[in-house]
Formats: sequence, structure tokens, C-alpha cells
Amino acid sequence: MTNQYEKIKDELQKSPKKWLITGVAGFIGSNLLETLLKLDQTIVGLDSFVTGHQHNLDEVENEVSKEQWQRFTLIKGDIRNLDDCKKAVKNTDYVLHQAALGSVPRSIEDPITTNESNLTGFLNMLVAARDANVSSFTYAASSSTYGDHPALPKIEENIGKPLSPYAVTKVVNELYADVFAKTYGFKCIGLRYFNIFGKRQDPNGAYAAVVPKWVSAFLDNETIYINGDGETSRDFCYIENTIQMNILSAIAEDDAKNEVYNVAVGGRTTLNNLFSAIKDGLSKKYPKLATVESVYRDFRAGDVRHSQADISKAASKLGYVPSHNISEGLEEALTWYQSHLAKGK
Ligand SMILES: NC(=O)c1ccc[n+]([C@@H]2O[C@H](COP(=O)([O-])OP(=O)(O)OC[C@H]3O[C@@H](n4cnc5c(N)ncnc54)[C@H](O)[C@@H]3O)[C@@H](O)[C@H]2O)c1
Repeated sequence: MTNQYEKIKDELQKSPKKWLITGVAGFIGSNLLETLLKLDQTIVGLDSFVTGHQHNLDEVENEVSKEQWQRFTLIKGDIRNLDDCKKAVKNTDYVLHQAALGSVPRSIEDPITTNESNLTGFLNMLVAARDANVSSFTYAASSSTYGDHPALPKIEENIGKPLSPYAVTKVVNELYADVFAKTYGFKCIGLRYFNIFGKRQDPNGAYAAVVPKWVSAFLDNETIYINGDGETSRDFCYIENTIQMNILSAIAEDDAKNEVYNVAVGGRTTLNNLFSAIKDGLSKKYPKLATVESVYRDFRAGDVRHSQADISKAASKLGYVPSHNISEGLEEALTWYQSHLAKGK
């Protein structure tokens, strides 16, 4: 059966568009770039390389044809600078705004820098995109917006209070987007990403996300720490589902705009189960990893205890059908990490 997403990809390939991806050298941005170039789209990418990497772009170059790569233009710039945003957004059909400083702990340590990129930068991008009359503006929102709201699964309209400076910035992004719709008729779509994982997610640094951090620790024989008792749960979502949601949002009809959507699978996996799944996956190739045990330590400040999305709004209004559940996603991600990280194993 051809679903909505397959139909849209066919149409895009027949009638290519010009896209701006901010944060193009990062994890999600570089994956969006790869998919869109493979669909013969023209892409401008904006990135300051604060957490993104040239090697992510190099890898995309290797994955696409020479002609496809020539349709990509990189602008090294900063969304905190309005002129960079204006330059990047010129003559663009669709904006996929991913650039921001991720990580709850980073925002707790340095709320000012997080605020500058995630709020001033966001507002700059909104103004630049509004003035350039783009056809659509899709931005990376976050499941952290649910904050202390206890209900599960998370439904878009029921949010609590933010638990970190990072979450505040993502909540305010949504408020600005709504005000831009009401004040200027500029209607965006916010994608509340849950825990996204997949190839090119950075395993290094103090603020690395749990999947790449643990995979890399397994492969390097380092201690794997679980924050809390391991029963903290998340709706882990594979990158392919995230790409699908971005593309569906970019071409969405007006009545699906000025909305936010959960981007997840609708499942719930505890950290203990994630640890076991990664261990089982990696020990197929490296049997000695089957005996590795995790080490428990304190809960981390600012983390929500449980997270699981209701994805019915994305399904009904955008035609979203996740292509990968967590096991299917992990299998692909582990294959990629093994070929990129495993050193002499
Ligand atoms: N990965 C997840 O699980 C997740 C979950 C919720 C929300 N998000 C959001 O998704 C977006 C992408 O996240 P990611 O996981 O790909 O992170 P990432 O750090 O890999 O990518 C972010 C990119 O944005 C760039 N960037 C940051 N600040 C910038 C600035 N001021 N100017 C220009 N470029 C800048 C970085 O250099 C990097 O390339 C972010 O907005 C993040 O908050 C991600």
C-alpha cells in the first residue's frame, strides 16, 4: 500500500523544491539533508558548527550522487545573527528549523547561551522566514514541553510546567509560533520530538544522548551509568520517523498548520530495557559484551520520569505512519555505530 509519505516523496521528486535546513551539520539536520538530496531537492544548510560536525556532511556527500551533492549550499552562520538568517532563507520554499542547543543539563549549566540560540535564534528565524514569504516553516519543538504534567500518553494540548531552562525555550518557541500565526498570519508547524536516535547522533561530550553514549561506552569497554533506578521510561523514536514528520509537515495543508505534533512511536521503553536491548544487539557480534553490567547512580536534575506520546494527531492530520519501531530502529542504528565506532574489536 502506498501511504501518504510515499506519495509525497514521489511528487517532490517530480517537482523539486528549495529547502532551508538549519542545524544541517547536526544529527537530525544531516539526516534530513541526506533524504532530501536523495529526492533531488535543492538545499541550503545553515550551521554554526557549535555542536554539528563537518564529518556529518562529508558522510552525506558520500551517500548521494555528485549531481545531488551539487544541489547543496552550506552557509556557515549563526541563527543568533538576523542577517545570517535572512541570507539563508532567501528564495526558499520550505524551512526545516532544527538549529538549537539541545540537552537539559547543558541548559541548567548555562541557561544564557541556550536561551540565545533557542529563543533569540528562533525568533530571528521566524522573522526572516515571514519576511521571505516561505511556503512553510517547520521547527524542532520538544517533548520536554510536557514538563511536570503527569498524564500518559502525552496529548498535545495537555502540558505542564517546564522542568529546565531548555524546556522553557521550547515552550516559548511554541508561544511565538502561535503569536506569529495570530499577528502576521504566518503559520508554522512545531514537531515535539521525543527521544530521537539513529546514525550520526553524537556519542561524544558531556551532553551526548543516551543511545549513542551507551553504544559507544559498550564498544570502548567503558562503564555504562544509568541515572536513577533504570525504570525511567522514554518513547524512543528512530530518525526515519522524524524525517517523515518533517516532510509531511513541510507540505501540509493550511488547516494542519499552526499546530504542534508529537514525533514518536507511541511506545515506552525503560532505561533498563534499553540497556538490555543494546547489549543483546551488540553481543551478536561481540559475544563478550553479553556479561557487561550497568552501574546505577543518582537521578539527573530536570529529567521527567516517564514519557510516552499519543501519536494519533500526527496520524490523522498529517498521515504519519511510523516506519520503524524501537527494535527496528535500534537494529539499523547499531549496525551504523558498529561500522563507525568499533575500533579493532
Ligand atoms: N535529538 C533529540 O532527541 C531531540 C529531542 C527533542 C528536540 N530536539 C531538537 O531537535 C533539534 C536538532 O537536534 P539534534 O539532536 O540534531 O542536535 P545536534 O546538536 O546534533 O544538532 C543541532 C545543530 O544546530 C547547530 N546550531 C546550534 N546552535 C546554532 C546557532 N546558534 N546557529 C547555527 N547553528 C546552530 C549545531 O551546530 C548543530 O549542527 C534541536 O532543536 C533540538 O533541540 C532533539
